[in-house]
Amino acid sequence: MHTFQPYPIEELEFNPFEKIGKDWGLVSAGSKQKANTMAVNWGGLGVLWGKNVVFIFIRDSRYTKEFIDAGDFFSVSFMDKNYRDALNYCGSHSGRDEDKVANAGLTWAYKHSIPYIDEGNFILLCQKLAAMKITDDSFISPEIKKWYADGDMHTMYVGEILEIMAR
Ligand SMILES: Cc1cc2nc3c(=O)[nH]c(=O)nc-3n(C[C@H](O)[C@H](O)[C@H](O)COP(=O)(O)O)c2cc1C
Repeated sequence: MHTFQPYPIEELEFNPFEKIGKDWGLVSAGSKQKANTMAVNWGGLGVLWGKNVVFIFIRDSRYTKEFIDAGDFFSVSFMDKNYRDALNYCGSHSGRDEDKVANAGLTWAYKHSIPYIDEGNFILLCQKLAAMKITDDSFISPEIKKWYADGDMHTMYVGEILEIMAR
């Protein structure tokens, strides 16, 4: 496996609709002692408060949320297509119940103590800037409500992209 190289953000050719929406990512947070990861396919990259940022949307019920809330950082790891099963695994099992990363055949790695997935080929290391809970009163289109029938609401996390690493 090739080592990671820092990736200059000016050279980024990143199609968010493909990478996030179709390929999916793994959001990870925690420490070297204990970390957790989960699959995401909702989110975005952009510019906010004068910074390059990533937006992720994490439901209350996710164990990973506890790790994101407890620390200042998170990462988003993107994988090549061979890891589809692992992504599916991390999107359908909870780290509350098992060592999910090991059981998915994945490996933890750390940069600046931020956990990410070593098998990834493109990693965003992020510092939390804001956490905004999405509530019913923010819905304008009535169609959105259907995503929250069970009351398991999303929190939107805005993370500053500190570093991008690519293989
Ligand atoms: C393709 C895919 C995308 C997902 N995207 C999200 C997401 O954006 N936000 C979210 O809260 N859950 C999302 N999930 C669900 C979590 O990944 C899933 O509930 C996971 O088991 C949570 O694990 P945890 O309890 O260990 O945190 C997605 C699942 C899959 C399969």
